[in-house]
Amino acid sequence: MKTNQTFTMIKPDAVANGHIGAILNKISEAGFSIKALKLTRLSKADAEAFYAVHNERPFFNDLVSFMTSGPIVAAVLEKENAVHDFRTLIGSTNPAEAAEGTIRKHYATSVGENAVHGSDSDENAAIEIAFHFSAREQF
Ligand code: RTP
Ligand code: MG
Repeated sequence: MKTNQTFTMIKPDAVANGHIGAILNKISEAGFSIKALKLTRLSKADAEAFYAVHNERPFFNDLVSFMTSGPIVAAVLEKENAVHDFRTLIGSTNPAEAAEGTIRKHYATSVGENAVHGSDSDENAAIEIAFHFSAREQF
């Protein structure tokens, strides 16, 4: 199903480093509207379920402990071509490879601690939005 929504998290590194406001500003300036937003924290079970696709990967345990290490900001974003355009805005997974002007270029510190998440398909965006937000939390 084609939608115009994507899901993002501002990850624990960027929250701890005080970048919530700057990242939300960059998201708004890029033309996304915020349809849901909360400061929250993932349990170990939440992080394992959210990143289950990576559970055989060597970095999985580090990823789960990082994602549960502090609060995150979860948000639903809307724009035409939201999934694709948001992946462009955040830049490559490894900040060393991220393009100038991208969120990861500015705010990520390493491939593991890379400031933001962005859904990788419309299908996963819908799954991830439902994972984090009830219908009455979406506007
Ligand atoms: P995300 O899902 O968080 O938006 O990141 P992504 O699509 O750019 O990257 P993905 O391949 O889905 O990996 C998920 C997250 O796992 C961590 N990772 N660490 N140490 C490593 O080699 C490694 N590779 C991936 C990163 O936090 C990555 O964002
Ligand atoms: Mg991913």
